[in-house]
Amino acid sequence: MTYTPVSHAERAIRNGHPGIIVWFTGLSGAGKSTLSSALERRLFDQGKVVYLLDGDILRTGLCRDLGFSAKDRHENVRRAGEVARVLADTGCIVLAAFISPFRRERDAIRAAMPAGKFIEVYVNAPLETCESRDVKGLYKKARANQIPDFTGISSPYEPPLAPEVEARTDRDSIEACLAQISAVLDRQLKP
Ligand code: ADX
Repeated sequence: MTYTPVSHAERAIRNGHPGIIVWFTGLSGAGKSTLSSALERRLFDQGKVVYLLDGDILRTGLCRDLGFSAKDRHENVRRAGEVARVLADTGCIVLAAFISPFRRERDAIRAAMPAGKFIEVYVNAPLETCESRDVKGLYKKARANQIPDFTGISSPYEPPLAPEVEARTDRDSIEACLAQISAVLDRQLKP
């Protein structure tokens, strides 16, 4: 997508790596924010150019006009994908953590990226596990019909069919999940 005089190759030389998107998808409470925050810290400390885009944050600004209907989620993820793509175009390693429940939007972002530059991480924990964690107390409210269109309860989640990584946060430690992601990422960051 480069349309400025500075090429991807020049940016990659300066940064020491190419731009790429690591897209975390999964239910609320599955561990997307935990894994992506830990990975951001690690990559930053390694001297990489990295930035974390998180649904909870984007929804306070760029996407604050959007709710959780299917239509609004489509738009939320479309915008997030566009921002991720622009950041990746600058040579950044973009970590994007959004429920992004619909396959179509995730696949559209993948299709807009060069081959190998979109790593889909399915952060997979069973609904019962996410619900029992209930870090934000939202599942309890959703069960009490206080939150409409809640993912996994009253709104669908379409799991990826062929993610590059499936992180089973109910079974494996954060460290083990990070190692899985890093193995794939390191391969793609090689010049
Ligand atoms: S997405 O579906 O459009 O990708 P996004 O990742 O931006 O969702 O936001 C999800 C976060 O919004 C959840 O982690 C949760 O804190 C909050 N939230 C509030 N209402 C809902 C809802 N109805 N369904 C899911 N998450 C919700």
